[in-house]
Amino acid sequence: MTAFDIVDKYIKFFEKRDHKKIPNSPLVPKNDPTTLFTNSGMQPLIPYLAGEKHPEGKRFVNVQNVFRGQGALDDINEVGDNRHLTFFRMIGNWSLGDYFKKEQLPWIFEYITKDLGINQEKLYVSIFGGHNEFSQDNEALSVWTEIFENVGLNPTNRIFHYDAHKNWWSRAGIPENMPEGEIGGPSSEIFYDFGKDLKLHENSQYKNALCHINCDCGRYLEISNTVFMQYKKQPNGTFSNLPQQNIDHGAGVERLLMAAENQPDVFLTSLFAPTITTIEKQTNKSYEKNVREMRMISAHLSSSVFIADANVYPSNTEQGYILRRLIRRSVDSFNKLGGKNLDNIIESIVDQFKQTDPNLVENFEKIKGTILEEQEKYAHSQKRAKSFLIKKYKHQGDELMSNTEISAEDAFVIYTTHGLSPTQIKNLGYSFDQQKFAEKMKEHKNLSKKGAEKKFRGGLADHSKQTVMGHTATHLMHTALRDMFGTDLHQSGSNITSERVRFDFNFDRKLTDEEVAKLEKVVNKKIKENIPVHFEMIPTDKAHEIGAIGLFMDTYGESSKIYFIGGDSKNPEKSYSIEFCGGPHVEFTGEVKSFKIIKQDALGRGFRRIYAKVG
Ligand code: SER
Repeated sequence: MTAFDIVDKYIKFFEKRDHKKIPNSPLVPKNDPTTLFTNSGMQPLIPYLAGEKHPEGKRFVNVQNVFRGQGALDDINEVGDNRHLTFFRMIGNWSLGDYFKKEQLPWIFEYITKDLGINQEKLYVSIFGGHNEFSQDNEALSVWTEIFENVGLNPTNRIFHYDAHKNWWSRAGIPENMPEGEIGGPSSEIFYDFGKDLKLHENSQYKNALCHINCDCGRYLEISNTVFMQYKKQPNGTFSNLPQQNIDHGAGVERLLMAAENQPDVFLTSLFAPTITTIEKQTNKSYEKNVREMRMISAHLSSSVFIADANVYPSNTEQGYILRRLIRRSVDSFNKLGGKNLDNIIESIVDQFKQTDPNLVENFEKIKGTILEEQEKYAHSQKRAKSFLIKKYKHQGDELMSNTEISAEDAFVIYTTHGLSPTQIKNLGYSFDQQKFAEKMKEHKNLSKKGAEKKFRGGLADHSKQTVMGHTATHLMHTALRDMFGTDLHQSGSNITSERVRFDFNFDRKLTDEEVAKLEKVVNKKIKENIPVHFEMIPTDKAHEIGAIGLFMDTYGESSKIYFIGGDSKNPEKSYSIEFCGGPHVEFTGEVKSFKIIKQDALGRGFRRIYAKVG
């Protein structure tokens, strides 16, 4: 049984039961600003689970790539044990107000025991036992009782109850943590038992604890989660019923493989084992003696491969920051084991996933380039941090050696100037006053929060006349660039002050002098035409339909603020530019007066920055 077979059998199982296969959504959601990465299979289906009619029916199945390293679903710190990964593939099936518990639970049991051949004696289930205003799920209890009785197993030893901390699912966790508008419901999970003789945690905190199916010792593994998606959080904190009762089932392919192979360590399943062997070869060390480090390398680099494949580049913000953390964490573990060359490990990971994700092979050079470049940058930052400290402390007459105590102020300079986190500074062998560092960090965060509030005004430093003129110029430039180079080009950021306009976009080379002249000419022509600029609040779907572009920062759920330069939502063909945008803008393009490019910069792989002046 391979990971590929697990997916293939699941899709066929549900296709036979009239489910339509839906595609794997992009790992970086295109139009959902609530999460940086797709973190569950249900995410692209949220509007339909909430009651909107799906044009393709009521039964769906898919396999979704997900990343859980942020927000309520953050597993980054869990990596290192026998089963936690941050990137994994999730198979899922959904009923949008169609079938419910009495179909779903027997089907999943059948798929796991018959199609995958997993030993039924090793299976246990949990159901929702009630929480605050929600009562115990007696329907799931009676369906499971019948399933176990039908196959000759005693249900009393197989079914366990838990409250919402274990048996409730929403993207934000328990009901209390769900924000207004979020959907969720009670769940029922299936667990696989690796047996009481498992010696995974002989020295762990769990060694004397009473083991139960939902404890974290590693003996039992959750392999399937069915959510009965029924509720929506209201503004006053209460819950209302969704217009329909839905099924949202998800199961991690890697975990099903562990159960199918009866292998309690995911890194030793047929999927990950070749990568572990490659790491052993590259470091000349054994897995047995370096389990934690090798798991970190394997899990974090696998996530990095998929995130880099989604066109994310390491940076200090958002998705880029997560990628930077993951790569640096794997590099730390790799360096600790004396490894140097990550090439073969990346290759082995791509090999590991290529049957289910063939695009990784096509994008191999880009993926490898992104990771290796960050490894180099990290080494460079470490070198600069060290030489900063050597200079500083020699100057004070001290020799700087490993384990040297440095001041919290200096550690903070390294953090802000060279981008090394406190742990990364400690990994270099320096110690410092943690509490003082935390205080400095708090001050810094307050300052950046203020900065971020400003930045969130659509990249505008202020709302002065000059800045607003620059803002309208970015919309003109955006369309002009797309007309010149094609619609794959899109804005990736902007920062506008009264001094200058800064505009970032995806493009892989410097603009030639002729191209710069042409861009200036087109934008100045549109300024001269003195076209009216206005906004409308329109349904987000409609905005997409009429071809609105932009960063989607100003999408407010179902309706969005859209700026038009010329035309309007009824006559979009008459518009020069249609963008999702918070504003503000000038009323007529003529107010921008003139536009001139003053500088171009490269922003790293595939992204450029243009500086311009207006007025
Ligand atoms: N939404 C649930 C999960 O992600 C089931 O698909 O676990």
